Amino acid sequence: MKLDRGLRYCAAMVLAMQAAGSDAASRCGDAAQRPWCDTTLSASQRSDLLLASMTLSQKIGMMAGDDALSVINGTPATGVVDGIPALGIPTLYMSDGPVGPREGKATAMPSPLALGASFDPALARRVGAAIANEVRYEGNDLLHGPSVDVMRTPLSGRAFETYGEDPLLSSRIAPQWIIGAQSEGVIANVKHFAVYTQEGQIGVPPVTALIGGRQLVNALIDERTLRELYLPPFEAAVQRGEVGSLMCAYHFVNSAPACSSAHLLEDILRQEWGFDGFVVSDYYLAVKDTVLSARNGLEIEMPIGTFYTPLLLELQVRAGLIPVSTIDQRVGNILRTLFRFGFFDRADFPSDDTLIDQPAHARVARDAAERGMVLLRNTGVLPLDARQLRRIAVIGEPATRLPNGGGSSAVVPFQFVTPLDAITQRAGSGIAVSYDDGRQPASATALAAKSDVVLVFVADKSSEGVDKRCLSLDCPLLGRSAQDRLIEAVAAANPNTVVMLEIGGPVLTPWREHVAAILSAWYPGQEAGAAMARVLFGDTDPGGRLPVSFPAAEKDTATAGHLARYPGLLNQAFYSEGIFTGYRWHDANNVAPAYAFGFGLSYTQFETGELEVSTRRDGGLRVAMSIRNAGSRAGWAVAQLYLGLPSPSADVAQPVHALKGFDKQRLQPGESQRLQFDLDPRALSYWDIADNRWRVAAGCYSIDAGSSSRELPLHRAMNRAADSSWSAGCP
Ligand code: BGC
Repeated sequence: MKLDRGLRYCAAMVLAMQAAGSDAASRCGDAAQRPWCDTTLSASQRSDLLLASMTLSQKIGMMAGDDALSVINGTPATGVVDGIPALGIPTLYMSDGPVGPREGKATAMPSPLALGASFDPALARRVGAAIANEVRYEGNDLLHGPSVDVMRTPLSGRAFETYGEDPLLSSRIAPQWIIGAQSEGVIANVKHFAVYTQEGQIGVPPVTALIGGRQLVNALIDERTLRELYLPPFEAAVQRGEVGSLMCAYHFVNSAPACSSAHLLEDILRQEWGFDGFVVSDYYLAVKDTVLSARNGLEIEMPIGTFYTPLLLELQVRAGLIPVSTIDQRVGNILRTLFRFGFFDRADFPSDDTLIDQPAHARVARDAAERGMVLLRNTGVLPLDARQLRRIAVIGEPATRLPNGGGSSAVVPFQFVTPLDAITQRAGSGIAVSYDDGRQPASATALAAKSDVVLVFVADKSSEGVDKRCLSLDCPLLGRSAQDRLIEAVAAANPNTVVMLEIGGPVLTPWREHVAAILSAWYPGQEAGAAMARVLFGDTDPGGRLPVSFPAAEKDTATAGHLARYPGLLNQAFYSEGIFTGYRWHDANNVAPAYAFGFGLSYTQFETGELEVSTRRDGGLRVAMSIRNAGSRAGWAVAQLYLGLPSPSADVAQPVHALKGFDKQRLQPGESQRLQFDLDPRALSYWDIADNRWRVAAGCYSIDAGSSSRELPLHRAMNRAADSSWSAGCP
């Protein structure tokens, strides 16, 4: 219970409970007086009973937040919907977000992109649970996360909040995060529905951009691209994660505001996917009308009503433009979900962060940082051998701070040991660790030249509200810097240069052939130092693989050079590249990336057996393979399975291949594992626009497995006949 509103609520609650003659320990009240408080009834029965006792204005009052300013500083929460003590409805408190609660201090987790890089759904469950636990002990009931938008352009200011460019990867991570979060009794709020891929250019982070800005841009997208690329993580969140609520996005999709799109909210979300939770708007300017939002599926406008003010809603009801039954449906969805989550039947979640198990959560943050760290290059300098080294140079001021993404995912950490301090500590007394902030290249290179190994730290800056202008490290959002030149200079002075990237998304790496190693830590969170030290010294294997392609040049992305695609013309963004983004774009255009989706090195080596393919009773395929650690250290293997689908007709182009499965295993030296990938008919399908449904085409299916989208040594082909039967090999 938050203090200020809490006191107000408690006072009203005591009076209301006295009136209802109930036990003051219950938030709902006495079932004899308030039948919806009877816990033996189902959530639907209870919400029907409560709804029947509410006046129209009480119902309408639940359809908007009540605190305009809370979103700015998270006090008393990121969002507040006042309760109705006379009915035993408690106040609903909402909190950001995907990196941790943005209220006071919190365990700053690595950015979601690092979690994408972990290729580890079980880890996502632990991260979701830890964040929700903190959200709960800050006194909140609902958590604005996870953020599952698929990255379209690496310029995106919120790329760091995504799980990357691939819908299958995001669809595996998101539901586990949600299951973890909701296991804490907190309602997860999956966001931002849908096709929210850009902040726009030129503006003031974290608020808004002027060109193609998120509040106004209209995503013009075909149904196939929508279904195959941008919707699957939301579908998985609803169907596998059973998420309780969903946040609709700021912008327009095919000319309808996302928060009042009948196609998105009613046809797809509720009718097709069976979502029975409630929809919350993004904060300020996401809701663009009253009648359509109410009719088409928005339950709550946040952080306050602008189109959902009591006056506007009531006027439209009285004018007959919004039927009372629609209000009942909207409020029923809210109440039923709250009953489902036990919101009425428990005590307030205490606002007391001393209840948080900080060491346990720090461990989760460290695991996530290590398992998401991607080793992009290693000529042999890593892991560092403490017995051989005498002098380590740490260069670059990001080594002394915590780079993170700006906006609603900016979290103030409970604790932070700088990478510089953590590395110094791990190195021990026998190794001299010297630091130079890199601002004066001459002093940095002088230090580099007299060191055995150099760790050069570079970071980008990205934020909600405005996209990056370009992908170079020297193209920051504000101010700074000449980091590419610093890397080149240091590498020229010392061949044992290791680049430590702290980044919110793909960056250009023009110096990549000149350095000995590159480690991408993304925005690594508060345990950055410990995790980096452990990976650098080989106490653990770098566990991450790229959830995004690193282009070799600025022009090498699906949207580069196409203003109509991005940032759009007159706020119209044409998704004419279709499903060909990320590695699908690189493959289709035969352009080599600097580092491919799925790529990442280990300190050990893995061997794989042949692919074995069999058919499943549901018409799908089963693929099995073995993998063995052939090196002398324990390490993380991330086996990846890709499919190339046949084109049913010339107008349905298919990617060369797309990720359909992955399996991450930690293997001891010599240990092997048998892996199995089940491909149900949906995994073999494309979206048939004419028939408005998923369809499996006849023809040749290429089955490829390996360690990245560009390293697929294992291959099989299966032919699917018109009668749906399979045969090995293709004619
Ligand atoms: C962001 C959401 C966030 C909300 C509340 C908005 O600007 O788009 O992701 O949950 O603010 O902080």
